[in-house]
Amino acid sequence: MSTQTTPDGTRPGGSAGLDLAAAELSDALTRRPRTIPPRWLYDDRGSELFSRITRVPEYYQTEAERSILAAHASSIAEITEAVTVVELGSGTSDKTRTLLDAFVAHGLIRRFVPLDVSEQTLLEAADMLAERHPEIEVAPVVGDFTRHLGRLNAAGDRIAGPRLIAFLGGTIGNFYVEERRAFLGALADVLSPGDWMLIGMDQVKDIGRLIDAYDDSQGITEAFIRNALVNINATYGGDLDVGGFGYVPFWDGRQERVDMRLRAEEPMTARIDDLDLDLEFFEGEEIRVEISSKFRPHELLDELVDSGFDRVDAHVFTDDADDFALVLVRRS
Ligand code: SAH
Ligand code: AVI
Repeated sequence: MSTQTTPDGTRPGGSAGLDLAAAELSDALTRRPRTIPPRWLYDDRGSELFSRITRVPEYYQTEAERSILAAHASSIAEITEAVTVVELGSGTSDKTRTLLDAFVAHGLIRRFVPLDVSEQTLLEAADMLAERHPEIEVAPVVGDFTRHLGRLNAAGDRIAGPRLIAFLGGTIGNFYVEERRAFLGALADVLSPGDWMLIGMDQVKDIGRLIDAYDDSQGITEAFIRNALVNINATYGGDLDVGGFGYVPFWDGRQERVDMRLRAEEPMTARIDDLDLDLEFFEGEEIRVEISSKFRPHELLDELVDSGFDRVDAHVFTDDADDFALVLVRRS
């Protein structure tokens, strides 16, 4: 297994290139409304909390996507004939096993490249997959998929043949609309004609089920959202009062997304030393920590076509309950 790390801003706490990530975070925290870039949810503890979320009964998405992969991974390998599979935001690569098993059985895949900002989780997953599939090269990249997609082409030793970029879990829903457009455009730029993209999306459904999925009875999602503040405090010497904020998840029907915020329960100040930042919160002021957009597959397909993917070769796979969908598109 070979490992590639990125020197420019992908590793909070690392020495080189702290500035990009720090500047982005300072800007997000001081802008109105205040936000936090989603990557701050995923330090080691955040990745662990996300893994626990995937097992809470209210969070149906992981099992729904797993069932789609179990039913259709072989077809995806046959359709794409990919020799390289890249996975963005791969995390534990848990469901990826199903996908890779099918590609290995199909016989063409030679390399798997998982890319994630959460280093330890990424490297453990890569070890697990390298052990499971010694016949392919597993080449993890520690990186930020909003900044480092270019690195997927920079290696210089590209294997000839189609590539598949998988973006599973519904993580596409964690972008704001403009960011999603920029991300899909950047992906189209990185891919060559004939390469493929596989995107997992959670579908619009009953609001009660959606809210329950983000406000689970064990409070694991709440802990996951609060952990963004814990991570920022630890990384940049901050004293944000994590317990001074209330967790506020709600359904935004106009934008069709779950919106997860932290609301100051009283007036508060905070200092983040290494960002040289002094923050003042008024009572009731919110930090927008994460959104999770829900989709209708044909609408996301329209966005993909606008970004440079081909409608004719597109496939949409869903689970029995039609809760989740995987869209497979080819770069035109
Ligand atoms: N694909 C997995 C994990 C989804 S959780 C699944 O389907 O279960 C989202 C993953 O994206 C996490 O592993 C997190 O570390 C990663 N992530 C979030 N923002 C990122 C960014 N900007 N760049 C790279 N990885 C990111
Ligand atoms: C990673 N992503 C798709 C998850 C989601 O459902 O939006 C993150 C998450 N946030 C709270 N619960 C899960």
